[in-house]
Amino acid sequence: MKQVGHYLQFSDLNHEEYRHIFERAKVLKRRHSEKQLYQPLVGRVMSMIFEKNSTRTRVSFEAGMAQLGGHAMFLDTKTSQLGRGEPIEDTARVLSRMSDIIMIRTFEQSLVERLAAHSKVPVINGLTNEYHPCQILADIFTFIEHRGSIKGKTVAWIGDGNNVCRTWLQAAKILGFKLKVATPVGYELTVLDGEHYGPEHFEPSHSAVKAVEGADLVTTDVFTSMGYEAESATRLEAFASYQVNAELMKHAKPDALFMHCLPAHRGEEVTAEVIDGPQSVVWDEAENRMHAQKALIEYLLLGHQYD
Ligand code: CP
Ligand code: NVA
Repeated sequence: MKQVGHYLQFSDLNHEEYRHIFERAKVLKRRHSEKQLYQPLVGRVMSMIFEKNSTRTRVSFEAGMAQLGGHAMFLDTKTSQLGRGEPIEDTARVLSRMSDIIMIRTFEQSLVERLAAHSKVPVINGLTNEYHPCQILADIFTFIEHRGSIKGKTVAWIGDGNNVCRTWLQAAKILGFKLKVATPVGYELTVLDGEHYGPEHFEPSHSAVKAVEGADLVTTDVFTSMGYEAESATRLEAFASYQVNAELMKHAKPDALFMHCLPAHRGEEVTAEVIDGPQSVVWDEAENRMHAQKALIEYLLLGHQYD
């Protein structure tokens, strides 16, 4: 049985663990499509803390826990004592006495780390300002479904050097692919984990065309992430030439996929032609949040004791 492990950033699991999780996600997705019941988590409870909005993360965790036979509880800052200043350490102590696993979406990564440090049960990062590991878990599972192994492939990130982009970079090193990042000046990706990312894994530039050249996957995200709304007018201007459109996609490999974690703003970071076009796999990507996270929860709670 695996010891209590948290999933606070993508680098918390290694290559071999990801191989297992992607295999299990495939099995769990097939079972779900065949309407097979698989409920190893009867009586188990997930506490979900949301300090930012969510559609996919909430629904994928809540539906996923129900399908596994367990239950997920939604807590937010408006209605829980977190919004009235209860320390995260105390919240961790209480929640981990009543639930088996905790998921949190919040602002600073340091808050998630403090929660995990005082929790007796696994903690999953459901997005912070710094990282979004569950998203990249689903994105890479989606890539594998469509194209096979991501090892040796090239992923192009266009736009903001944000939480999702930073998580792609961790994944590039662990899973052995190259991430080409094109950002406007002033919005470059900053590395926060103390790792060194060599040119075989990380190629930053300010040119969207250069980034997509030879890419097997082109991906982007909103110009303004949650928590940065005050900057949205400035960002709209700064990111104007970083739109993923049909012209830009022509510079990628002809069979390149397009992904976006969603929600999307058609006409800003991506055109309708691309996101609703034949290269886009965004709906599979969104659905796969649930399958990939079920495999993650199963791994964190049951280790290798699969049925
Ligand atoms: N991609 C994603 O995390 O979506 P939500 O913000 O809707 O959860
Ligand atoms: N970068 C975005 C992702 C939303 C799922 C944000 O943090 O708001």
